[in-house]
Amino acid sequence: MDNNFFLKGNICHTPQLGKIEIYENSYLLCLDGKSGGIFHEIPQQFANLPIKDYQDCLIIPGLSDLHIHAPQFAFRGIGSDCELLDWLYKYAYPEESKYSDPEYAQKAYSMFADALGKSATTRAVIFATAHVEASLKLMDLMEKTGIVSYVGKVSMDRDAPENLVEADAKTAADALLSFISGTSQRSYKNTYPIVTPRFIPSCTEKLLTRLSEIQKKYSLPIQSHLSENRGEVELVKSLMPSSAFYGDAYNRFGLFGGDAPTVMAHCVHSSDEEIQLMKDNGVWVAHCPDCNMNVASGIAPIRKYLNKGLRVGLGTDVAGGHTESMFRAVVAAVQVSKIYWNLVDPKCEPLSLVDGIYLATKGGGSFFGKVGSFEDGYEFDAVVLDDSSSPHPQPLTVYERLQRSFYLGLDRTGIKAKYVQGRTVC
Ligand code: GUN
Ligand code: FE
Repeated sequence: MDNNFFLKGNICHTPQLGKIEIYENSYLLCLDGKSGGIFHEIPQQFANLPIKDYQDCLIIPGLSDLHIHAPQFAFRGIGSDCELLDWLYKYAYPEESKYSDPEYAQKAYSMFADALGKSATTRAVIFATAHVEASLKLMDLMEKTGIVSYVGKVSMDRDAPENLVEADAKTAADALLSFISGTSQRSYKNTYPIVTPRFIPSCTEKLLTRLSEIQKKYSLPIQSHLSENRGEVELVKSLMPSSAFYGDAYNRFGLFGGDAPTVMAHCVHSSDEEIQLMKDNGVWVAHCPDCNMNVASGIAPIRKYLNKGLRVGLGTDVAGGHTESMFRAVVAAVQVSKIYWNLVDPKCEPLSLVDGIYLATKGGGSFFGKVGSFEDGYEFDAVVLDDSSSPHPQPLTVYERLQRSFYLGLDRTGIKAKYVQGRTVC
């Protein structure tokens, strides 16, 4: 037990949706990589433990990004000028095809890993591309950041440019097996593979069948996209007419939760039946508000999902989303929820900032286990934030300072330290 210490500062967390707890000038205990409690005074039995004194800084749980595309990082902030299906062909696929070149992958993925390492993200669920070698390179780089991540080599055997799409279901399944075997030959401590059918339009039924077999054989989690855009939903209907709804197209192949932990990005246009199946199967929704706006898909009704008891976290969805900042994702989630309430459904109450912080920490963190809170026994993921670079003419409360930090994006310049499972990672 050499990983025991206290952090001292202004400790904030959201153990429940809608509630924030703030402990000013207090001590947060790390016991063997887990949270051991928050104290105003150090208890006698821990009197000998080291204290890392962060003085007036804010200390919050690390943030979980449930949906981000590493190969799209290079064009973030460029090309939000069309809807999803056109955007894929105009921007995403041309960029992703470059990852057949290992040198390009090394260069671009190093920039991605570096940015994520410096961000407030402590956990991430990541899409790579269809290329095995480049995806393994991404895993090597992610491992070095200390962030805990799932990385998916993308599977896609139809409806994409020839220089990106895999030749057929067998080729795609063999490539996934080779990726899984590559990950098991490396002894990663924080980096895990995840089965990643891109979305229904780019996967044949044959491929979905093989992915399901591989998922079961290796007990892997699953990530994909669901009901993001109206045109996409129509396309899925025409491609899989026997499916009752989009989610059913995954579910028929055992790729929609249940025994397989599954995160589905977007869920903007989910029908009542689809919502019910997500609930029954324990599927996580990765809400990506910036992407909802940038590729004009619509707004996911997150309050409705929360009221129905679905599991929900947030994703930056770079490069549909334009930044890897999870602070920005929190603010955007709050903002789009207000527009949805005002213009679409007055029964769908807006999210508060505290709700947004909950979704980014404990909500999404639950995909990784007991993660995203400082309650006893939770994995010790923490971000220390110094907001002093942004002065104010009057003293502010800790909660005001926290709100401002999110809205002003102080995760860009103010991260003083980051801990994952009790390890210092920056
Ligand atoms: N659906 C299928 N692929 C993608 C992607 O790369 N980004 C988004 N936002 N949606 C997708
Ligand atoms: Fe996405």
